[in-house]
Amino acid sequence: MPEKKIIAVVGATGAQGGGLVRAITSRKDSQFKARAITRDAKSDKAKELAKLGAEVVQASVDDPVSMRRAFAGAYGAFCVTFFWDHFSAEREVEDVRNMAQAAKANDLQHVVWSTLEDTRKFVPLSDNRMPTLGGKYKVPHFDGKGEADQIWRDLGVPTTFLLTSFYWDNLIYFGMGPRRGPDGTLAFNLPMGDRKLPSMAAEDIGKCAYGIFERGRELIGKTVGIAGEHLSGAEFAAGLSRALGQPVRYNAVPFDVFRGLGFPGADDLGNMFQFNHDFADAFRGARSVEFSRTLNPELQTFDQWLARNKARIPLE
Ligand SMILES: NC(=O)c1ccc[n+]([C@@H]2O[C@H](COP(=O)([O-])OP(=O)(O)OC[C@H]3O[C@@H](n4cnc5c(N)ncnc54)[C@H](OP(=O)(O)O)[C@@H]3O)[C@@H](O)[C@H]2O)c1
Repeated sequence: MPEKKIIAVVGATGAQGGGLVRAITSRKDSQFKARAITRDAKSDKAKELAKLGAEVVQASVDDPVSMRRAFAGAYGAFCVTFFWDHFSAEREVEDVRNMAQAAKANDLQHVVWSTLEDTRKFVPLSDNRMPTLGGKYKVPHFDGKGEADQIWRDLGVPTTFLLTSFYWDNLIYFGMGPRRGPDGTLAFNLPMGDRKLPSMAAEDIGKCAYGIFERGRELIGKTVGIAGEHLSGAEFAAGLSRALGQPVRYNAVPFDVFRGLGFPGADDLGNMFQFNHDFADAFRGARSVEFSRTLNPELQTFDQWLARNKARIPLE
């Protein structure tokens, strides 16, 4: 049997990378083996990945020397950045530069880069429908990733650009679960008007990335968008009502109200939802559910995800 090809996975203890590590280690006949990159090889999460059969390597995306070592001898890499750890698009761009240079130095055959749109190509800074943030962004956690696409191209790294979607897991971890109003009924608050939002189980991102690696060279140089479903706020609420066995109504939050909520990143997320809403045709058009299912035949629907995860959604 030929030796298995190493896929180095950034963010391996997290949502996206973790899904890919599990996709690799759960297939005993896979042509790939997983190298899990973490800043702390001794953490419980890193140990769990080692137990699954992953090689665990310690490195940080902001340390170029460690990244070069972490990618050594690998066939490919899954690369992701961590906006919500530091709230800096500039830092995301620098972290991508470190990863891309490490990929180039090690002559990697295939990188899957988890990216998002540079919204400034749709909403120039002069467009006042939404505020400019940090002096040069509309949606910082999108724009830095989209800007960084060019780094891979300039360095000539064989890259697939993976456009991801809103995680359903945000209902558990990101304060996006339904909230109980003064009348005691639950409301699902989302600033999406009557438009549909591409969204998915975070675990499925890594599984789709696995499908991309499986296709060999076919998707190199291409931008590939993924989603589990495109759902309106009303459809989110209906799914939640069915799963929770109690009525959940959709509350279409105005963009300005969301931007003003005051938590860190509220303005960035408010702009993101307005971008998703105002450019819904392009945003949805870039994320085909059917194509995602060809990459990952186990792609979950919202109902399936809810059946597994409803007990973990905090109801406040
Ligand atoms: N939430 C959404 O709906 C959504 C949708 C699309 C895209 N995204 C994007 O997804 C990205 C985050 O991915 P995720 O959700 O998979 O992350 P995550 O679950 O928060 O996990 C990130 C993992 O990355 C590792 N990490 C953090 N800083 C690192 C560093 N400097 N060097 C190496 N590893 C580091 C951490 O592992 P260790 O502690 O083990 O090092 C952590 O477990 C964000 O940029 C966000 O914009 C989010």
